[in-house]
Amino acid sequence: MAEGISVICGDAVDEMKKLPDKSINLVVTDPPYNLGKNYGATNDRMNFDDYMTFSRSWLNEAKRVLTDDGSIYIFMGMRFISYLYIILEQELGMFFNSWITWHYTQGSGKTRGYSPRHDDILFFTKDRDNFTFNLDAVRVPQKYYRSRNNMKGANPGNVWEFSHIHYCNSSRMNHPTQKPEALFLRMILASSNEGDTVLDPFCGSGTSLRVCQQSARNAIGIDINPDYTAMTLERLAGEFHGFDSSDARINRVPAGKNHTNQIPIWREENS
Ligand SMILES: C[S@@+](CC[C@H](N)C(=O)[O-])C[C@H]1O[C@@H](n2cnc3c(N)ncnc32)[C@H](O)[C@@H]1O
Repeated sequence: MAEGISVICGDAVDEMKKLPDKSINLVVTDPPYNLGKNYGATNDRMNFDDYMTFSRSWLNEAKRVLTDDGSIYIFMGMRFISYLYIILEQELGMFFNSWITWHYTQGSGKTRGYSPRHDDILFFTKDRDNFTFNLDAVRVPQKYYRSRNNMKGANPGNVWEFSHIHYCNSSRMNHPTQKPEALFLRMILASSNEGDTVLDPFCGSGTSLRVCQQSARNAIGIDINPDYTAMTLERLAGEFHGFDSSDARINRVPAGKNHTNQIPIWREENS
C-alpha cells in the first residue's frame, strides 16, 4: 500500500473520535444518503430523527478534526441535502462556499415524475476567508479563446458532468454507489495541496483514496463494511493506468488553435 494512505474498517464516528483535533486538511466524502441502498453491513433507511442524529455526529467530528483552514465536501441526494446544509451552517458555524451539481446522463427511470439525473455536493470551509482553493489546478479549456478570457482556462463552474462508472467498465468495483474518480480528483486538487491529509469517513470502494494515492496526498479512509475496506486495499495495490473518468470539456478544441486535447501543451504554446 502507498505510504501515507490508511484504510480503517469501523464505524465512521467511532474511528473519527480517535483522530486528533485539527489533523485533517480536507474531508471529502460520500456518506450513505439514507435512500435504502444495500451496503451489506448497515441500515440505509433510518427514520428521520435517527438519520439526523447520525449526520450531526459525524459532521461534528469532521469539523473537530479539520485544520483551521480546512474544507469539507459532502455528496448528498436531494432528500436530505438541505438538512445537512442547516447543520453545517446553523449548528456548526461553518461557511458555505459552493453547491455543486453532479449531472449524469444515465440513471434509474421514473414513470410518475422526472427521472433523477443529478446528485449534489456541498462545499463548506471552516474559516470564512482562510482556505485552500487551487483554481489553476482544476481549470478546463475555455469554450472560446478571446482576449478577455483567461488563457489558463476556465473555472469549471458548479455543474459537473460525468458519467457513472458503468457495470461493464473495467474500473467498476463491486460496490453499489462507486463514484467517478474525476469528481474526487477535482475537489482534492482544488482544496488540498501535495502532502496534505484527506479524510473520507465513508470510503466505500476507495475512490477518494485512489485519487489521493495518485495525487501525492496522504489519506485516511473509513468504512464499516470489511468487504469494502478489502476492496479498497485491492484497488490501491493495483497498477494505475489513468483515472477512470474525465471532464468532456477537456476535449474542447480552442477556436483558432491547432488541435490538442491537452491543456498543458496549449499553455506552453501561449506562455
Ligand atoms: C455512498 S457509499 C460510498 C461510495 C464511495 N464514494 C465510492 O466511490 O465507492 C457510502 C459508504 O458508507 C459506508 N457506511 C455506512 N454507514 C457507515 C458508518 N456508520 N461508518 C462507516 N461507514 C459507513 C457504506 O458501507 C458505504 O460503503
